[in-house]
Amino acid sequence: MNKQLIEKTYPIIKIEDHNTDNQQKTFFFNIEDDVIKNNINVLPGQFYMLRTKLGQKPISVSHFDGKIIGFTVLKRGNVTADLLDNADVGTYIGLTGPLGNTFDLSENDENILIIGGGVGIAPVYNLAKYALNKTNIKTTALFGSRTASLSAFAQDLPRQTDRFESRFYTDDETGENHGFVTKDLEEIFSKQKFTSVYMCGPEKMMVIAAEQIRKLQPNIRIRISMERYMKCGIGLCGSCVLDDIGLRVCADGPVFDYDVLIKSKEFGKYHRDSHGVIHSF
Ligand SMILES: Cc1cc2nc3c(=O)[nH]c(=O)nc-3n(C[C@H](O)[C@H](O)[C@H](O)COP(=O)(O)OP(=O)(O)OC[C@H]3O[C@@H](n4cnc5c(N)ncnc54)[C@H](O)[C@@H]3O)c2cc1C
Ligand code: FES
Repeated sequence: MNKQLIEKTYPIIKIEDHNTDNQQKTFFFNIEDDVIKNNINVLPGQFYMLRTKLGQKPISVSHFDGKIIGFTVLKRGNVTADLLDNADVGTYIGLTGPLGNTFDLSENDENILIIGGGVGIAPVYNLAKYALNKTNIKTTALFGSRTASLSAFAQDLPRQTDRFESRFYTDDETGENHGFVTKDLEEIFSKQKFTSVYMCGPEKMMVIAAEQIRKLQPNIRIRISMERYMKCGIGLCGSCVLDDIGLRVCADGPVFDYDVLIKSKEFGKYHRDSHGVIHSF
């Protein structure tokens, strides 16, 4: 993997909202000059620290075509609200990255399952696009969100081809399928076996999905992208360390094997805030 990283401000060249009423937007930047000059490659699963005047926050890459990079941001607290409420086309935003490891498609991958929930759809959507356009791997992608507008940024994926299938689920009745993203797992596994599963989303959802999948196909390789409060994003401050296993989400992850994560006592149970205080999921 390319470990070169760039720290620079770039102007926003395009913003997409997809009728989320300012709750979620995708911000696009042109990084072509740096891709060429510094031989940067940005792979699915990696993230950048996005910086406004209020601070910096980790955001996954949701779009990358070799020139234009996109980040899909959900409004949560200070920095994400600053981005959604105040940034326009032309506003300069600090980007540091690419950071972290990748979903790491295996050499043995012939048929993969991708699962994304909430804004966790962003990095796995990028992986789905990569699998579709850059590989011959057969891919099934399942995306779940509270309401259809929050997954609209990923709806350009084909629903069904010989090699690719995508299904969208919503908690409310606005989408194609009403229900949780795990709803059809039994049906899907009854028809095919997968070489790997790649996941990102709410941790409770990922625990339930992984446990169900291991029952349907024991020993299957499961790669999970984790979210933890980050300050530095480059492995120095320790704020994102996973209890007991001592791994840093920013530098050793954010993508981990499920078999490694289940050794951490906090996986699926709690996370820490900026002061290190524990909050249960
Ligand atoms: C590797 C990685 C990739 C991410 N990718 C995306 C993405 O693609 N799109 C996106 O919208 N968000 C993503 N996030 C989450 C995003 O970084 C947080 O939403 C953001 O840090 C919130 O910052 P804020 O200043 O808006 O909120 P703050 O004011 O810092 O916090 C608001 C509340 O959220 C809690 N919180 C903040 N960050 C986290 C966290 N990481 N885990 C648990 N609780 C937290 C705080 O404790 C507080 O209660 C990612 C996080 C990580 C670690
Ligand atoms: S955020 Fe500082 S070590 Fe991970």
